[in-house]
Amino acid sequence: MTAVIQALTARPAWKALEAHHQKVRDLHLRELFATDPKRGARLTTEAVGVTLDYSKNRVTDETLGLLLQLAEESSLRARIDAMFRGEKINRTEDRAVLHVALRAPKGASILVDGQNVVPQVHAVLDKMADFCNRIRSGAWKGHTGKPIRNVVNIGIGGSDLGPVMAYEALKHYSMRSITFRFVSNVDGNDFVEATRDLDPSETLFIISSKTFTTLETMTNAQSARSWVLEGLGGDAGAVARHFVAVSTDAAKVSAFGIDTANMFEFWDWVGGRYSLCSAIGLSTMLAIGPDGFRALLHGFHQMDEHFRTAPFERNLPVLMGLLGIWYSDFFGAQTVAVLPYEQYLKRFPAYLQQLTMESNGKHVTLDGTGVACPTAPIYWGEPGTNGQHSFYQLIHQGTRLIPCDFIAFVEALNPLGRHHDILMANVFAQTEALAFGKTPEQVKAEGTPDWLVPHRVFEGNRPTNTILAQRLTPETLGKLVALYEHGVFTQGAIWSIDSFDQWGVELGKVLAQRIIPEVENEAEPDLGHDSSTNSLIRSYRRLKVRS
Ligand code: F6P
Repeated sequence: MTAVIQALTARPAWKALEAHHQKVRDLHLRELFATDPKRGARLTTEAVGVTLDYSKNRVTDETLGLLLQLAEESSLRARIDAMFRGEKINRTEDRAVLHVALRAPKGASILVDGQNVVPQVHAVLDKMADFCNRIRSGAWKGHTGKPIRNVVNIGIGGSDLGPVMAYEALKHYSMRSITFRFVSNVDGNDFVEATRDLDPSETLFIISSKTFTTLETMTNAQSARSWVLEGLGGDAGAVARHFVAVSTDAAKVSAFGIDTANMFEFWDWVGGRYSLCSAIGLSTMLAIGPDGFRALLHGFHQMDEHFRTAPFERNLPVLMGLLGIWYSDFFGAQTVAVLPYEQYLKRFPAYLQQLTMESNGKHVTLDGTGVACPTAPIYWGEPGTNGQHSFYQLIHQGTRLIPCDFIAFVEALNPLGRHHDILMANVFAQTEALAFGKTPEQVKAEGTPDWLVPHRVFEGNRPTNTILAQRLTPETLGKLVALYEHGVFTQGAIWSIDSFDQWGVELGKVLAQRIIPEVENEAEPDLGHDSSTNSLIRSYRRLKVRS
């Protein structure tokens, strides 16, 4: 993409937003709602079965108009088109960014370097489906002839967070006769706890790594190999029945000892944190079956199409992305809380942390100059209502502004007495309390003694989005994840950053490689670090129990 975009703070909409912010920053949501009785309905929009109520945000029509103008001036439309056309918008890695191709229907055409990638996407999906059917039916036998009853995904980052989040989110639809585990941390406790009650003869490992070089994953994969071989009498032939790989690098998979016939491929135009719809989703497909996985992809695709085609003023990811910019860059909000009122989404905030912060936690723009404003806020969260009894105090009465996304579903997956109505009542109560609070007058009128009044006042004016869908299904999950993916894209486009590289993770990896022999070798090493690091390494060497 060659279009020259003005520096962010020089864009007319940015300047106008700065001036506008001075005028509206103290405006209270109480006033905004009082002067517009239809605000709730007016600032609610629905697309592909997902409803977004963004009325409880500290915005006027003018704010929204200026934010939308900022999107135009930031060439958001051109950036979206460039992504969908397969242009190499990941400039620092010279790669196309085509997770949207992973969920494109058969027959679609998306070109990378002149080649339509959609047929190869569907060929891998078909191969995955065939494999999953064989595992799920028991036709695939382990080395000793037993069917597979346990699946362990070994991966980290995008090769773990997507699979574990999706498995937890869709557990309701999963095949309960297979046990699923996820090992990511190089901390041996992770592997040991995940495998301690499993029988190697009934266990399949999926080694998931885009690069097939990641230290944590390769270390865990080696331990898995030893665990299987020890458990099955040392016959290396067992590897073929108990290991499959998901990667972009066939040569490295082969070098590890996994037959490439048991490898599921994906491509360098799929970013790790955007890879759930690729073969990285193999554990998800094993859990919910090929039809469920295709429904998940269909959900993603519907949101992709909405993002690609809907006018910005009705475009859910664009609206959410712009509101995020408003709080982060104009109000100085440093974090965003994501609060799913759905226990199955318990790993969703952790998944979003990589998606948002590895994508947009950048300090330079595409041309290498410093960004002029804060980029990605810190994402965090817990399922409701648990958070209400821990950190919500700070959101309601603390000194920081924390925009929140509430996520809820009309139907319970496990209807149980009054539970779901109570859960939903809490969603509505929290967003109401955060927006409108409780004035000193109201507190006094309740007979509160004067000295206690300040403690019991709720300022309100805490902004929230409410995202509502009918029911958590594979399709809905796809829509929800794509909503956030494209919100991240929107923000990256406004900040003119490369949302698809992750150079910030490199330095620590390189230093760890240097330190590993320094902690492992018998001979005392010559240490050339700073005095703190040298002394930590020496203490560790002195104190550790040598095995
Ligand atoms: O943390 C850096 C990172 O490269 C992530 O972007 C990626 O998801 C993760 O490591 C795992 O990488 P791989 O799939 O290549 O093992």
